[in-house]
Amino acid sequence: MTEDFDVRLVTEAKYYYPDPQYKRNSWMGDYQTAYKNFLADPDAFWSTMAQELDWIRPWDAVKEWKYPYAKWFTNAKLNVTLNCLDRHVNDHRRNKVALIWKGEEGRERIFTYQSLLSSVNRFANALKKIGIKKGDRVCIYMPLVPEQVIAMLACARIGAVHSVVFGGFGAAALNMRINDAEAKVVVTADITVRRGKAIQLKTIVEEAIINAPTVEHVVVLRRRKPMVDLQDPIEIDFDEIMEGVSDECPAETMDAEDPFFILYTSGSTGKPKGIVHACGGYMVGTYYTSKYIFDIKDNDIFWCTADPGWITGHSYIVYGPLAAGATIFITELTPDYPDAGSYWKLIEQQKITIFYTAPTAIRMFMKMGESWPNKYNLNSLRIIGSVGEPLNPEAFEWYYHVIGKDKTPILDTWWQTETGMLLITTVLGEPLRPGFAGKPIPGIIADVVDKNGKSVPPGTGGFLIIKAPWPSMLRTVYKDDERYRKYWYTIDGVYTAGDLAVKGKDGYIMILGRSDDIIIVAGHNIGTAEVESALVSHHAVAEAAVIGKPDMVKGNSIKAFVILRVGNQQSDKLMQELIYHVRNTLGPIAVPQEIEFVEKLPKTRSGKIMRRVLKAKELGMDPGDVSTLEE
Ligand code: PRX
Repeated sequence: MTEDFDVRLVTEAKYYYPDPQYKRNSWMGDYQTAYKNFLADPDAFWSTMAQELDWIRPWDAVKEWKYPYAKWFTNAKLNVTLNCLDRHVNDHRRNKVALIWKGEEGRERIFTYQSLLSSVNRFANALKKIGIKKGDRVCIYMPLVPEQVIAMLACARIGAVHSVVFGGFGAAALNMRINDAEAKVVVTADITVRRGKAIQLKTIVEEAIINAPTVEHVVVLRRRKPMVDLQDPIEIDFDEIMEGVSDECPAETMDAEDPFFILYTSGSTGKPKGIVHACGGYMVGTYYTSKYIFDIKDNDIFWCTADPGWITGHSYIVYGPLAAGATIFITELTPDYPDAGSYWKLIEQQKITIFYTAPTAIRMFMKMGESWPNKYNLNSLRIIGSVGEPLNPEAFEWYYHVIGKDKTPILDTWWQTETGMLLITTVLGEPLRPGFAGKPIPGIIADVVDKNGKSVPPGTGGFLIIKAPWPSMLRTVYKDDERYRKYWYTIDGVYTAGDLAVKGKDGYIMILGRSDDIIIVAGHNIGTAEVESALVSHHAVAEAAVIGKPDMVKGNSIKAFVILRVGNQQSDKLMQELIYHVRNTLGPIAVPQEIEFVEKLPKTRSGKIMRRVLKAKELGMDPGDVSTLEE
């Protein structure tokens, strides 16, 4: 194994025991019992879950597994929005608050289930008006405003496949995603607001669609007054196309296996992977985990701090919580603006009951000091969660003591864009173990194995794998099924997640980090190859290699080693120019923190850069086996 871990953490078991009322009052009840029930008859388990939802036509079989392809709820018909919206509008939740949004100047917008459905239907009709049909791809590149959620649900209403691109991506990254998905429409806004500043989004879209032949229209939400000009006939105003359309729109009948959305994630090549999810299985998986793992009850207010542009936002802002009939809270505010108490103030004001955030944010909170959360009343919290990267024991302790007041269970949830829903955590009521995400949830069979797929003993590092298909798993990589097959063929017969992990004697799993060339920076997946190719696209760069370096707050930071083309001199100015170039190409999230100019890079005889050697040298560690190193 290349990743080190603190063996004491694995051998010296330390637990926190939650109040038994958590288990007693939860939807799940006892974890062991639920897990046993699932193992006894997995299809019956999933069938019971699916039956809690509305279907237009029931399934013939719960699953059809032809390795490595799975179909779930075969021949069933549904529409996800009937479950996220109409189901509630037709029962006691009609006037329940579905969504609360808070903007920077204290502005608040509230949607009930009924009013959210009306907005979704109107935007769905608007999309139809500009020619969008079932199966067409719509790219959503928006700030964190209710319209982002409405646009997603409107696509789902009419069976259009959305590809949401996080608003922090640059023009080239956006262009690549638009072209790969062959999007017909891009939905955007004039600006996004961050820490009191307006950041232009539309100008990035303008650049991104220059070489995007499939784009017919750009729908622009104009937030600023006076409004920006639109270029007729391509650019259309978001509110204007909603005018005069009906607030009723029949939900398109979808097959359970019809593609639901595409979401791009970094891979080990420069080209991101368009992860494709299917309607039926994704709905069941996100509903199940929202209700039974987050234990959503009618009086909860659920705040997931992710952006809907990431899978966490898709699954636990939009589809899962709404299917479970929750009240969701979203905000454009950042944790450090207007001051370091902004999130805690919101928890106090909104009486948030379930708070779901990322380790990078938790470490930032730690750095800003506990006096900030201590100023506010956080008593409403009953569950606090974490996702995106390992929650290190120090951050766990801080989160548990300072935010959870030594009584609120932490759900450290492990999952991926590819898995659609969370797969590993410590189910409510079970003892919490700092440093460990927990165990596979009922519905999931996971293990830690060696490269031949053999279980490794407790305390030994290995590859995290999932042994059987689950409903919300990815169905393919868009237009690149070979990359899908790799997940199931890297280790024969099982799904390889690409993460390293270690299991304790108690079966708890600790996630150690990625086993491939992906760096998780502040919870965002960045492919080394993507950053390298962005650098090499600069005229002064001949070659580049990128590694991740441990960072106290962000988990990792990016360091790039660059060989310049002959005739170029290294200088601070050039370094700044390269940073600017990466920012413009990929966006601020992928910018290297450090660039070092070098004459040579360590390579194998076949010419592959050995990033492992660079990393070991950088961190003063043993580089391991270097027999394949050329020099
Ligand atoms: O390395 C794991 C890490 O994030 C990767 C998946 O990233 P992404 O597809 O962007 O999805 C993030 C949100 C679900 C995983 O392969 N990761 C995610 N959750 C955890 C984690 N690492 C450790 N602990 C977690 N709870």
